[in-house]
Amino acid sequence: ASGDHVPALVIGSGYGGAVAALRLTRAGVDTHIVEMGQSWTTPGSDGKIFCDMLNPDGRSSWLRTKTDQPVGYFLGFPANKSISKYTGVLDSESFAATRVYQGRGVGGGSLVNGGMAVTPRRAYFEEVLPSVDSGEMYATYFPRANAGLGVNTIDQAWFETTDCYQYARVSRMRANNAGFTTTFLPNVYDFDYMKREAANQVPRSALASEVIYGNNYGKRSLDKTYLAAAAATGRLTISTLHTVTSLAPAPGGGYTVEMVQIDTSGRTVATKAVTADRVFCAAGSVGTSKLLVSMKAQGKLPNLPSAVGEGWGNNGNVMVARAGLDLTGALQSGMPAMGIDNWADPNGPVFAEIAPFPAGTELWINLYLAITKNPNRARFTFNSTTGKVDLSWQASQTQPSIDAAKRVFDAINSKAGTIYRTDLFGVYKTWGDDFVYHPLGGCVLGQATDDYGRVPGYTGLYVVDGSLIPGSIGVNPFVTITALAERNMEKIIATDLH
Ligand code: FDA
Repeated sequence: ASGDHVPALVIGSGYGGAVAALRLTRAGVDTHIVEMGQSWTTPGSDGKIFCDMLNPDGRSSWLRTKTDQPVGYFLGFPANKSISKYTGVLDSESFAATRVYQGRGVGGGSLVNGGMAVTPRRAYFEEVLPSVDSGEMYATYFPRANAGLGVNTIDQAWFETTDCYQYARVSRMRANNAGFTTTFLPNVYDFDYMKREAANQVPRSALASEVIYGNNYGKRSLDKTYLAAAAATGRLTISTLHTVTSLAPAPGGGYTVEMVQIDTSGRTVATKAVTADRVFCAAGSVGTSKLLVSMKAQGKLPNLPSAVGEGWGNNGNVMVARAGLDLTGALQSGMPAMGIDNWADPNGPVFAEIAPFPAGTELWINLYLAITKNPNRARFTFNSTTGKVDLSWQASQTQPSIDAAKRVFDAINSKAGTIYRTDLFGVYKTWGDDFVYHPLGGCVLGQATDDYGRVPGYTGLYVVDGSLIPGSIGVNPFVTITALAERNMEKIIATDLH
């Protein structure tokens, strides 16, 4: 309630926020999370908490009247559907030249993502975050993150025979034929549960076209792992449908945090101000960067370093599809389990997840999300005319990602005698290059913060999420975000809280 005082306030409940909440509460600190999305615990009239990809309703999207699917077209026709405006689980936040997909709700991105839990290559981690002791990361914090997240691996014998990974097997075969290496990807989706889905022993989720709008079963999202463990301490409270709008030093020490409460139609129902001794920014790369950039511009946190808002990248994301000759299967698991690993290529590293196209019918589509080593970066700036935060990313900055991915998929197409689909991302448009699943950076470790996420000049203010990672990590990012948060929180609790 307005006027309350809390020892620790965490803004956002994604990976960074969930780690902060668990480590603070375990250290005996009463902790309050402020989360703009809702708690995904109550079933709708159909008995399900989340809707699937084939029949999206208001639950799918954050306050939109039409879905904004990543694959927005089919046969060149718009594929989006009208929905009722609701605080749904997937947001697509539009900037001048890109749309950033993000999860909204208790659990953040873990609610909507594909669950791929990939530890980065050590050499690339060291290149991206040279100030972090990689020996410690790979011995302690990556294993801790993988355990806390509930990461598991697929039974490879089952993978080879199950209908639901036919799409991955044919993409592997075509990649291998063209000389590329493929690799299995760990996941937080319970692969034993998936096996039982395939055997019709349990309700289906990954095998019922569920991903990106949430999974009703099988997925170990943060509300079931880190956040559940934090709640079990009895020291965690969460305000949902509350968006932090302002943050400034409080007269008596600590910070004044202002927020608006909305209802599920997006209408403001209250504004509140509380004070907190410590504030942990975990609103994600975009959310944390936007908040801190506007607080600096509005004079509420005037001494923030000039690096705040800098160093944003899209992890080299670009999507593409091939029109195959191979049967990819009517039944496709929504959880990817295999990738093409061409990262060692000096002409343009590519790590491409073999993505499902779970339409429930045979479509002969091979879809990929490529992660490339794109050197381009952008910055967030406050726009005093609109009162909003702009992102400077330009369409042309995606070109290095397209060039790298094109080398791989041209080679695969040429060997297989196949062509690109040009009907899925627009009309005669090959590349899904105007959206991102992996926003990273904006408050880079060692630049906008010290080497542990402490904000210089503001005692008790921390950044703990994906905004710490400078724009690229070479694989799907949540394991790295989690492990870095584990490392930083251990240091902060040991040195700042005692
Ligand atoms: P995250 O975005 O998770 O959490 C931030 C939270 O803060 C959100 O809950 C948000 O609602 C809240 N918030 C924001 N602003 C706020 C404010 N002002 N006040 C209060 N709350 C606020 N990664 C991966 O490793 N493997 C994968 O398979 C995938 N797949 C994938 C698919 C899709 C569709 C998407 C959109 C993303 C992925 N990702 C992924 C990316 C991954 O989900 C992402 O990198 C992490 O969720 C980022 O974690 P953070 O903790 O940085 O923020």
